[in-house]
Amino acid sequence: MNFKDKVVDLVASQVDLPKEQISQLIERPKNEQMGDYAFPAFTLAKTLHKNPALIAQEIAAELTSVDFAKIEAVGPYVNFAINHQKLISQTLSEVLAQQNHFGDQKLGEGNVPIDMSSPNIAKPMSMGHLRSTVIGNSIAETLKKVGYTPIKINHLGDYGTQFGKLISAYKHWGNEEDVKKDPIMNLFKYYVKFHEEAEKHPELEDEGRAWFKKLEDGDPEAVKLWQWFRDVSLEDFKRIYHELGIEFDSYKGEAFFNDKMQPVIDELKEKGLLHESRGAQVVDMGEDENPAMIVKSDGTSIYLTRDLAAAIYRMKTYHFVKMLYVVGNEQAHHFVELKTVLKKMGYDWADEIYHVPFGLITQNGKKLSTRKGNVVFLDQVLQDAVSLARKQIDAKNPALANKDQVAHDVGVGAVIFHDLKNDRVENFDFDLDEVVRFEGDTGPYVQYTNARAQSVLRKAAALNEQPSLDAQIIDDDWAFSVAKALADFPRIVARSSDKFEPSVIAKYALDVAKKFNKYYANVKILVEDKQINARLALVQATSIVLTEALRLLGVNAPKEM
Ligand code: ARG
Repeated sequence: MNFKDKVVDLVASQVDLPKEQISQLIERPKNEQMGDYAFPAFTLAKTLHKNPALIAQEIAAELTSVDFAKIEAVGPYVNFAINHQKLISQTLSEVLAQQNHFGDQKLGEGNVPIDMSSPNIAKPMSMGHLRSTVIGNSIAETLKKVGYTPIKINHLGDYGTQFGKLISAYKHWGNEEDVKKDPIMNLFKYYVKFHEEAEKHPELEDEGRAWFKKLEDGDPEAVKLWQWFRDVSLEDFKRIYHELGIEFDSYKGEAFFNDKMQPVIDELKEKGLLHESRGAQVVDMGEDENPAMIVKSDGTSIYLTRDLAAAIYRMKTYHFVKMLYVVGNEQAHHFVELKTVLKKMGYDWADEIYHVPFGLITQNGKKLSTRKGNVVFLDQVLQDAVSLARKQIDAKNPALANKDQVAHDVGVGAVIFHDLKNDRVENFDFDLDEVVRFEGDTGPYVQYTNARAQSVLRKAAALNEQPSLDAQIIDDDWAFSVAKALADFPRIVARSSDKFEPSVIAKYALDVAKKFNKYYANVKILVEDKQINARLALVQATSIVLTEALRLLGVNAPKEM
């Protein structure tokens, strides 16, 4: 039981208020000297017709508990100061007993499809897709820890008018050998060239549209090329997912829904929601909004229609309790349309659909755009991060055994952590040197702190000393500050899962790492006195929580680096 719950129980034994209300009333005193929790007596003053300061005194006089060093009235508040020894011993023994299950809880259950990553084939995966991948993955791990069953879906952008353009471009300038050698790079080159040429020769656009129409009509040549582009692209993407250590439960992309759109269009018609506007089929979105387009004037289908079919398909397949779309902020309007149309169709489950947006990554302050060829190649970014990590390891720990693996975990982990440490809707600039630093608010800093804890434990084992809480206990302020942070982990997991916000966990990991490093700097851990085992318990508990926090972010925690 956490200490706040204990405060609630104590107060409830004295006052006539429901526990939930007491829990909501409890505050943190302005400064730590005054205690760790405060119960304000104002609420009771009206019903008891007494001065709140007097009420606070009466409550405090009745309460004693081994869990609190001090329970006293200060003005209208009852202040509670946690018994340091109790908090440290309880927290550490809980963490050591539960190991990586510390923080597990049951906040819900049922399937939660997470639409994430979803890059577009024949184009390099962008930094935006990287964000979606790592944010989605962390949300999935966190939801699992609180009881849900996440289903990671890669809704590949493998369909749409751009594939008409790509086929047309390939027919003009393409070469089979080149595509085989470096698929994405070359397909992308054709695509960029198409856009350049189309500015001079607008008739190319018509040609592209015609190829897309052929593709939709099942023309064998168009289908064969499209399938080939899809296969080689997916292979390339999977390489990046493998580097990131991320797997998907489904790769059903947009094309999968081709034959599932007509039933949706028919249903919209039946329900009287569809009408014609300038040759296109649209659904009204309300007074001041533009209508949502469902079928284009040339009869071809679009993104929104495929998403409608996908949402309905997922409901039928997974009977989800919530569904998330981890997609950039710039598509916010699309998801408003998606939910609105589903609601109009009478699907109340649309209320449990959440667009989980995130901000842009810029480089040197500039927006990255695939269309203009101003693009970062992700495999390159990851490779560069790994070699930067490798350089630092060579400098710091040249004798390290499995350097390649550690450099990989640190380099890739640095990129992931950097992506997750800010509130996800914030934009940020990507500077690799910054990202892979071993000091500062970085992934490598957290990993390094964990490796430091592991190194202490190895040295202790060599002295035949193990972590244990059986004998003496510690209660110094440095240890208290670490233990108090560790005790917070379950609440942090709950908050992160509730807000679909991995940064809550990343910021927490940085906080624990900083507090532990203060402990490490101020307390001699490996002195063989009576308290050494308790100190080692603190070290081990810290490593367990840091490792688990990193795991929830999708970052490995090497034991040595
Ligand atoms: N492929 C799209 C893009 O790159 C993202 C797809 C997001 N998911 C969805 N169901 N619309 O912009």
